[in-house]
Amino acid sequence: MKLKLIQQGAEAKILFDSSKNLIIKDRISKSYRHPILDAQIRKRRTKSETKLLTKASKIINCPTPTHKANIYQIPMPFIKGKKLSENLNKFSLEKQKEICREIGSSIAKLHKENIIHGDLTTSNMILVKDKIYFIDFGLGFISRKIEDKAVDLHLLKHALEAKHFQNYEILTKETLNQYKNILGEKESEKIFERIKSVEKRRRYRH
Ligand SMILES: Nc1ncnc2c1ncn2[C@@H]1O[C@H](COP(=O)(O)OP(=O)(O)O)[C@@H](O)[C@H]1O
Ligand SMILES: [Mg+2]
Repeated sequence: MKLKLIQQGAEAKILFDSSKNLIIKDRISKSYRHPILDAQIRKRRTKSETKLLTKASKIINCPTPTHKANIYQIPMPFIKGKKLSENLNKFSLEKQKEICREIGSSIAKLHKENIIHGDLTTSNMILVKDKIYFIDFGLGFISRKIEDKAVDLHLLKHALEAKHFQNYEILTKETLNQYKNILGEKESEKIFERIKSVEKRRRYRH
């Protein structure tokens, strides 16, 4: 087995096994943490992300963990495509809007099942032809709270504003409209109202 390191993040190493076309997300040890606590955290986060990916992949496009490796690793199919953060701005506005509708629809499907992604940025989305794959559920959790869903959407808005500011307002509108179409008017209006108060609170904090 030949493994190639394709990304070294703060929390995990991303390894690629080209012979099996697999990604292995390997949670690394942190020397500043007590060894027992460190092992517990890595194990818990690996387990939680595996569960969420498995659950989410029944609802939207995302890699399904393939088998149990060791307790700190998640093996999953390599999604061959374009990282959205590096590509969204290159497309025509129509195509960007189409992509954002797809994103809104996927988030609504996750939220319907009370799955909070926790890190909705375009770096955690891969475009394969016309499909968007969501990856990195490392900060995800299960919650039916309006607040948690509002924060999830707020983070995406923030990411669009930071990286795709040219069409930020149009793209946010497309995303949220499609979100509403899938989740339903009543529930989504409550969440949108909450986004406003989340943003007010965050403005005061800075
Ligand atoms: N299943 C996958 N298929 C293709 N690329 C992946 C996959 N999983 C991770 N990657 C690549 O590795 C990067 C980091 O993975 P990610 O799960 O987002 O870890 P981190 O928690 O460090 O952000 C992603 O942005 C993507 O480029
Ligand atoms: Mg990531």
